[in-house]
Amino acid sequence: MAFGDRGGRGGGRGGGRGRGGPPGRGGGRGGGPAGRGGRGGFGGRGAPGGRGGARGGARGGSRGGRGGGAGGARGGAKVIVKPHRHGGVFIAEGKEHLLVTKNLSPGEAVYGEKRISVESPSEDPSVPATKVEYRVWNPFRSKLAAGILGGLDHIHIAPGAKVLYLGAASGTSVSHVADVVGPEGIVYAVEFSHRSGRDLINMAKKRTNVIPIIEDARHPQKYRMLVGTVDVVFADVAQPDQARIVALNSHHFLKDKGHALISIKASCIDSTAVPEAVFASEVKKLQSEMFRPREQLTLEPYERDHAMLVAQYQRHA
Ligand SMILES: C[S@@+](CC[C@H](N)C(=O)[O-])C[C@H]1O[C@@H](n2cnc3c(N)ncnc32)[C@H](O)[C@@H]1O
Repeated sequence: MAFGDRGGRGGGRGGGRGRGGPPGRGGGRGGGPAGRGGRGGFGGRGAPGGRGGARGGARGGSRGGRGGGAGGARGGAKVIVKPHRHGGVFIAEGKEHLLVTKNLSPGEAVYGEKRISVESPSEDPSVPATKVEYRVWNPFRSKLAAGILGGLDHIHIAPGAKVLYLGAASGTSVSHVADVVGPEGIVYAVEFSHRSGRDLINMAKKRTNVIPIIEDARHPQKYRMLVGTVDVVFADVAQPDQARIVALNSHHFLKDKGHALISIKASCIDSTAVPEAVFASEVKKLQSEMFRPREQLTLEPYERDHAMLVAQYQRHA
């Protein structure tokens, strides 16, 4: 199960349709290393939010990761864990390269994901080496992981950050976000399904930096007493009115110059339009709500017709 960020180079559907970047930067980085998702432009210039990136490298066999055996990875002694350029995220380099987070609750998996334990030698020879446990973060199960492997330049979710996560589901990705922000950070996790909410609440029992909120994200006033000012709003609600939900929550809780990361599933917003048109119209909606788009990339090869948008909030525009 390899989905490290050094996967194969993109052939196939990737290549030139990749990166548009901010207005004026066209073409370019589509099928870069790691099967990077293609980047789209913001103003209709450059590549039309193309499906960049490879179906190659990154995909091979990775789906096998779903629910894969829990427990420490075999051959752990040969695994080296290195920090990823995004703080709080790591790459386990062994037979394969895997995206991992440092387990806030060592000894336990959240959803059957693999764990990797590595020895961290002490500088004092009289003190025994300690073990650090990491959890494998599967980009086929988490849009944020897909965005990281796709090459997001800035995720803004870092150790110590305060994150409002909309569309938490049962807490699979939230648990990794909690690992990333660490004990100094906090994740307010909003989910309106009571069924998923049960798992979310159970996960939060082991991760005290997660505040589960079982409410409709369309009504942030209902949870305003629970949530403080946040650095980041992350949204994955897969709803047609997602932009409005993000804006409402941001007006309540997001700090000035904070960021929103929004996973856009084109078919949930308009199944009749081409995905690129849907992404562009979502960007416009956010621009009218005091957001400035900063990055956009498609989540291929992990998710089809999805984009991840990063935008900065200008409370006092
Ligand atoms: C695509 S799933 C999220 C998956 C999750 N982010 C993960 O990576 O594990 C979308 C979730 O958003 C929730 N949702 C949709 N609309 C919502 C709303 N208005 N308020 C709160 N949760 C909502 C759904 O119940 C569903 O669990």
